Amino acid sequence: MLSDKMQEALNTQLNKEMYSAYLYMAMSAYSSYTGLKGFANWFMVQYQEEMLHAMKIYSYINDQGGQVKLAAIEQPATEFESPLDMFEKTLAHEKFITKSINELVDLAIVEKDHATNIFLQWYVTEQIEEEGNDNEIIARLKLVGEDGNGLLMVDKELAARVFTPPAASEGD
Ligand code: FEO
Repeated sequence: MLSDKMQEALNTQLNKEMYSAYLYMAMSAYSSYTGLKGFANWFMVQYQEEMLHAMKIYSYINDQGGQVKLAAIEQPATEFESPLDMFEKTLAHEKFITKSINELVDLAIVEKDHATNIFLQWYVTEQIEEEGNDNEIIARLKLVGEDGNGLLMVDKELAARVFTPPAASEGD
């Protein structure tokens, strides 16, 4: 069973995950528009991951007999300065999400809501991976700098990313 406060906080997090999906979809669209198909693929996989994050919360609220309440999703930017700009914004956004997850865990502890605390641990671990991926790609993009060939090589690498469906993913 969820307290009203916890239900509201989880619904807010659900909205943040939906915004994350929307943000990465916008980055995928802009990457396609600028001819970077590998970046477009990477961000579309990230969109799918964020939808998974959102739907896990959706199912959890339902499983706990709570009420899912959907709110408006904020509009993301439609243009970005460069691939590096997109990944720097991605990392900044993921840091914001990590902080948000940590605050949810704090609330679960204060409320002695052990079930929600355990549920949230998956997200705590996931955020380490998310920030790690972004840091790695940012480092590579900084090495490449203004070199077009280097950028196309990174684009080729990012084209290889595939979404792992929930049933086959760890911790699900
Ligand atoms: Fe759902 Fe990228 O955190």
